[in-house]
Amino acid sequence: MVKNLEMTLGNLVFKNPLILGSGTITERKEFPIKSLDSGAAAVISRTLRIKNEHRPLFRPSVYYNDHYMLNSDNQNITPVNYWVEEIPEIKKHGLVGISISARNPADSSDIAEIFKTNVEPDFYEINFSCSHSALLYGKISYKSARSSLSNARNKTNKPIFLKLSLDNIVLDELKGIEKEELADAFVMSNSIGPGLAINIKTGRPYLQSVYGGVTGPAIKPFVLRSIYDIKQKLDTPIVGVGGISSSDDVLEYLMAGSSLVEIYSAAHIKGPSIFGEIKNALEAYSKNNNVDLKSVIGCALEGGIYGEERCSS
Ligand SMILES: Cc1cc2nc3c(=O)[nH]c(=O)nc-3n(C[C@H](O)[C@H](O)[C@H](O)COP(=O)(O)O)c2cc1C
Repeated sequence: MVKNLEMTLGNLVFKNPLILGSGTITERKEFPIKSLDSGAAAVISRTLRIKNEHRPLFRPSVYYNDHYMLNSDNQNITPVNYWVEEIPEIKKHGLVGISISARNPADSSDIAEIFKTNVEPDFYEINFSCSHSALLYGKISYKSARSSLSNARNKTNKPIFLKLSLDNIVLDELKGIEKEELADAFVMSNSIGPGLAINIKTGRPYLQSVYGGVTGPAIKPFVLRSIYDIKQKLDTPIVGVGGISSSDDVLEYLMAGSSLVEIYSAAHIKGPSIFGEIKNALEAYSKNNNVDLKSVIGCALEGGIYGEERCSS
């Protein structure tokens, strides 16, 4: 018998831990719907802003190899109204989260208000962490992130995630956010860096922007360490993201303390079918080990809620 892959976060039930993370492939509904049909439990829109001011268009804006991805794609061109219109259709396939930039805290209020008067998403993700836009436009402050969270809180009862990056995790700030119950989950991590990759055939950087946010397998050990660390100090649920491309990666994230995971680079490179492959492999794991998937959450920290052996095997 396949055991249960279900995960809960607050009052939201996810049929499994897999979420398509925010990015270029979630600018429009097609890729998210295919991902949900393939097996993802939820999808997250591209990060939205009320005012889509002119931003530089870099070409190429993405470079990847087997180890990592670099990107400087910060177009975010889809207007909020697009999602207002499309959410009902996407919801027929699974859960939908709307990502909002924390750069302008008024956006959280305005965007949540727009959805409130139409159809609300299942949850929100406040993004204050893209390493590349931090380089171009300056780092977003915790003050701004907190205002964004409380502005959204004042408008909606839906769960609100806060998306961090390894570059901006400050324990005392997170403790304050937890104490005030501003966020229902911490999402770790957005891209880190930025980094650089050079094409040795041309002697030039691969990206037109030279630098780009680093994502993919290379960041996974760093994100895992950070989740393992934060999990020991805070109670807010964690959504792990960074370098996941297999069910083994998902299990590592769950065992380190994540309640859910997001996948971006691997889906961008391999397509939406990756969700079905990972979901099937997780089903096989839960069946072979006779466990509900949620029972492994945080087991690496507890060295034995389920016995030393399960975690050490
Ligand atoms: C091309 C690209 C665009 C992205 N755009 C966004 C974005 O708009 N908002 C956001 O919160 N994260 C964005 N991300 C970050 C991803 O959602 C994810 O946090 C990060 O890539 C780490 O996960 P991964 O290793 O599975 O890709 C983007 C990543 C890439 C590669």
